[in-house]
Amino acid sequence: MATARRRRAVLGSQVVTPEGFLTKPLDALLTELEQFGKTNDGSNTERPRRMLNITRDTGELLSVLVRATRARRVLEIGTSNGYSTLWLASAARAIGGAVTTVELSDYKVGLATANFTRSGLARYISLVHEDAGRVLERSAEGAFDLVFLDSERPEYPGWWPDLKRVLRPGGLLVVDNATSHQAEMAPFVALVSADAGFVTSLVPVGNGEFLAVKADQGWSDPT
Ligand SMILES: C[S@@+](CC[C@H](N)C(=O)[O-])C[C@H]1O[C@@H](n2cnc3c(N)ncnc32)[C@H](O)[C@@H]1O
Repeated sequence: MATARRRRAVLGSQVVTPEGFLTKPLDALLTELEQFGKTNDGSNTERPRRMLNITRDTGELLSVLVRATRARRVLEIGTSNGYSTLWLASAARAIGGAVTTVELSDYKVGLATANFTRSGLARYISLVHEDAGRVLERSAEGAFDLVFLDSERPEYPGWWPDLKRVLRPGGLLVVDNATSHQAEMAPFVALVSADAGFVTSLVPVGNGEFLAVKADQGWSDPT
């Protein structure tokens, strides 16, 4: 009971949760999307029709990471219907930032656009309807403070040189499905972990989040 009270104290029009402040309508939309994702993915076997959303506790972790690192320039690769984007955008908005999110599927772009409009967060989100590899290629060096990677895992090793480049020094890479799809993730995790320019950690939240922070010249680690 005390835990429930701590998790959801209602203050005026806001719901206080461990990840910070969500407006009641945003909390309700996220809850609706969680339900939709479960029902939809439970009845659809075709991958392109499944939402494959992150878990709620992963959304909470992303919200904390954006705020803790003051990541104002966030890039998400793999929007789906925008569930994870809403967590990122709500946290980015709180610190004066915004999210660029990339999605290839026409169907998912349509769903995400509608959800962004409903959320009231659309002005903090740029939805790019394109192949993520191309978007990464043309993004400037150090363009992003935080990159959330949740797309087609076999592509990740090929995207690594550009992922490295677009993160600013001290920037954070977060990758979903590090424990749920450990074998598929192994080549990418090995590549990043072997890179002396990054410090990594596996966080057992949701489907497993692989974190990698890019070295910053301000660090004073012994060499
Ligand atoms: C796991 S889902 C993303 C789920 C979303 N992050 C969430 O939690 O709500 C992966 C998405 O990546 C998209 N995708 C796959 N390959 C892509 C590519 N090359 N460029 C951009 N998006 C891609 C898929 O269409 C799919 O919607």
